[in-house]
Amino acid sequence: AESELGEFEHYMLKEIFEQPQSIENAMRGRFNEDEATAVFGGLNMSAKDIRKVDRIVLTACGTSWHAGLVGEYLLEEFARIPTEVEYASELRYRNPPMSENTMIFAITQSGETADTLAAMRECKRKGHPTLAICNVVGSTIAREADGGIYLHAGPEVGVASTKAFTSQVTVLTLLALYFGRMRHLSYPAGSRIIRHLKEMPRIIEETLKCHEMVKYVADKYAKNNNFLYLGRLYNFPVALEGALKLKEISYIHAEGYPAAEMKHGPLALVDEVTPSVFVVPKCGIYPKVISNLEEVKARKGPVIAIACKGDDKIAELADDVIFVPDVEEYLQPLVTSIPLQLLSYHIALHRGCNVDRPRNLAKSVTVE
Ligand code: G6P
Repeated sequence: AESELGEFEHYMLKEIFEQPQSIENAMRGRFNEDEATAVFGGLNMSAKDIRKVDRIVLTACGTSWHAGLVGEYLLEEFARIPTEVEYASELRYRNPPMSENTMIFAITQSGETADTLAAMRECKRKGHPTLAICNVVGSTIAREADGGIYLHAGPEVGVASTKAFTSQVTVLTLLALYFGRMRHLSYPAGSRIIRHLKEMPRIIEETLKCHEMVKYVADKYAKNNNFLYLGRLYNFPVALEGALKLKEISYIHAEGYPAAEMKHGPLALVDEVTPSVFVVPKCGIYPKVISNLEEVKARKGPVIAIACKGDDKIAELADDVIFVPDVEEYLQPLVTSIPLQLLSYHIALHRGCNVDRPRNLAKSVTVE
């Protein structure tokens, strides 16, 4: 196993650095450029039935659930299909009304998570087409699903999920393109999405150059016992995922929040020592996120910003800035999640935590 690690000290770091390749693998063979859409081999549904889908439910646990939140924004924006994201552990015992043409996707790296499997079985029992977005080939969920999309991310060993998350988001983007092109999305809009997606492996490579700066930031803040993670729109799920990574492997309390909701509670947590990680790349509501950031600064809270290269203003507002490449808003989670993965990794190292095998957690949770 040591040789598989190659130059890396831990699987988590190796898997973070594999992302240019794993994202590429998630897209391979899945573009139809003539029709400016995506193609999937395993949906096992006729185009006619897929066109009838009037609602989508994404169900998952943990990091996969965060990918689902990004998926909701993507599907609603590009395909205009009402989409719901449900914790599998809740969905399995709830009985939400579902129209006949509701389609379910279970999102799971391992394909073995007990709650996700149970939620999937419950939806199948009610007659809905239930598909899997899954990494492990031949896993229980992959086998029991009516069809699905594999991530092809390769084995993920680190308990804290990294590359599976960005692959799930990539596949969900393809899915939004696919459903979009069957409905409201024009040919040029579809072509543009394909062009931008194809650039992502190179851009992720570029993003990983933030590593040195992340190490510096980790050094500076590793002793803090509370963190806030804040973002809006596509970067709201990124904030949740960043906070989860820190909790999982550093055992530090971290709270992810939509930045504008701060004033309804978490702002009370801000003091001179509690750092806020602001995910604030260029976007349509950038000035709004900046004013949320200023609310934190006004209370003397230290701010670490994840911002776009070329954003010269941000250094005056934040205590520390980690720069990432500027990409389309809907692709930002792929980029902005990477410094947060690295930040949790380096803070955990500082605190002497077992990065790949954190206490109390399992890679796949096969019990309820
Ligand atoms: C466990 C893992 C997480 C993962 C979650 C869902 O809690 O530690 O990293 O996100 O299960 O796993 P799945 O395999 O269904 O994506």
